[in-house]
Amino acid sequence: MGKLPRTIIWENGIVKMVDQTLLPKKLKIIECRTVDEILDAIKSMKIRGAPAIGVAAAMTIAMVAKQNENESKQILISKIYETIDKIRNSRPTARNLFWAIERIIKVIDLRKDSIQIVNDIINEALRIAEEDVLMNMRIGEIGEKLINDGDNILTYCNAGTFATVYYGTALGIIRSAWRNNKKIHVFIAETRPQLQGARITAFELKAEGIPLTLVTDNAIGFLMQKKKISKVFVGADRILCDGTIYNKIGTYTIAVLSKVHNIPFYVAAPSTTFDLQSRVDDVKIEERSADEVVKVLSRYRIAPKSINVLNYAFDITPPSYVTGIITEKGIILPPFNENIPKILGIS
Ligand code: MRU
Repeated sequence: MGKLPRTIIWENGIVKMVDQTLLPKKLKIIECRTVDEILDAIKSMKIRGAPAIGVAAAMTIAMVAKQNENESKQILISKIYETIDKIRNSRPTARNLFWAIERIIKVIDLRKDSIQIVNDIINEALRIAEEDVLMNMRIGEIGEKLINDGDNILTYCNAGTFATVYYGTALGIIRSAWRNNKKIHVFIAETRPQLQGARITAFELKAEGIPLTLVTDNAIGFLMQKKKISKVFVGADRILCDGTIYNKIGTYTIAVLSKVHNIPFYVAAPSTTFDLQSRVDDVKIEERSADEVVKVLSRYRIAPKSINVLNYAFDITPPSYVTGIITEKGIILPPFNENIPKILGIS
């Protein structure tokens, strides 16, 4: 993928990641050596996107394990669970974070000694990262079949390289279509307030050479009315068993507009984003600081001081607005209640 590095890598006990708050000005890799550094990176969105956060969680546990490999098993395990508790509270909506923690917990075999436990954890974290790349490439391969020459695709937020380890979900599909020589054009909505669309998706698609147009979030309805958009592809932070989609705030608005204008609305996500246990009311929607709204990129103030602000980071799209969900196991069409377990292979 030419110029783009992996979003997150493990190197001798250190977790390295692209600092996404600096994009598109700088493509800088930062090194994290402590839990607090990684927690700060997750909370301040230096690393973001559901799959990338999941990998960051796994690597954080691996890092702490490595740092305590010479401790007694009791100390090692207590350090690991202390870390897990901290990570759980970092960003509540993305399913992948909790999924990655569960995967790591499963490989902790208390019959083994500290060194073996640590090795198992590190290997599992590395496997989680590698699987993410492979799943996304498969999503790209499967999903690109939905794209035709001449499509004008709308995407939102960043569901690409930087939201994953390498290939991206919704943008992986777009990337695959482009690499298969499909003549496409992508509309990117800015994605207030963190501007992941303008800063990160535009950077990423430009690096790939894909023709793009940046638009404001509030232009989407008019663009659809003018028939400028033929398909929508977005990512997801969590998907429930009935096909309810949690994604960046504003996704629901796009889904409703798509339905009104008869435009296919596709969601791309790996199986690791599915949460088949929770119901809508069980899922916490992250609320972020007022600063993100009253200041552009938390810096330049645009609103008066001392006003009320409500800053939900995600919204909920009911399944009736979703045309299909593209996973590494296949495309899931409605009725989602029946087809999600069928395609994911869970009966
Ligand atoms: O707040 P963010 O930037 O972490 O939100 C990211 C999204 O909403 C993405 O669409 C989602 O995580 C899917 S990324 C493959």
